[in-house]
Amino acid sequence: MAAEMSIVHNCLIRGINSVYNQCINVATRGTDTDKVDFANYAFQWTEWVHEHHSSEDNTLLPPMGEIARVPGLMDVNTNEHAGFHDTITEYSDYLKKVIQGKEELLGEKVKSLIDSFMPELHTHLGNEIETLVNLEKYAKVDWDAWFKKKVGRMVKESMGQYEYRISIFPLSIVSHDKSFGDGVWQSFPPIPYMFALALRWMYMYKNQHWWRFAGCDFKGYPKELPFA
Ligand SMILES: [Fe+2]
Repeated sequence: MAAEMSIVHNCLIRGINSVYNQCINVATRGTDTDKVDFANYAFQWTEWVHEHHSSEDNTLLPPMGEIARVPGLMDVNTNEHAGFHDTITEYSDYLKKVIQGKEELLGEKVKSLIDSFMPELHTHLGNEIETLVNLEKYAKVDWDAWFKKKVGRMVKESMGQYEYRISIFPLSIVSHDKSFGDGVWQSFPPIPYMFALALRWMYMYKNQHWWRFAGCDFKGYPKELPFA
């Protein structure tokens, strides 16, 4: 459970790194199309963070405390989510305006907005893993099995939405490095090969111009960042 969560957190970190490392060059030498695509890519990352945290707050974390017989045990995570809510919203609002043509893409501005929330978010992503590891102390529960079942249902529900399939799902695929540690997480996410292939063809190409800024390709292997 903690391992799977840490993979997702690493994907989030890999995603924001790709924005941080390319924003200056996209803003200075990118075309208008590059800038709008980049703003969309960066904006989708904020949507992903939002989706990740709201599903934790609403569906995943509260039952953990109940099962552990310590209601509110995992509230510490929800409280930390609230800590960077406003700053991340300021960042996503700015990106939205760039997409709408109401603001110019300024690399330094993107960097300073990321600097306003990312240290706290980064600390939170680490802290949350600790709380998941510590759960083992509270109840003799097969947490891995519980988590797998719960997350399986959550993913099924999310993938039922077309918008999710063409926005957050592709971003998660291009943010996961399957080559890490000699491929120790190659089979993550646990999607059968043929099904993954079908999903790729059906949904990842729809907004493919956004995903070109990601650290990994459609198969989940590292690639050059075009504006780094
Ligand atoms: Fe998380």
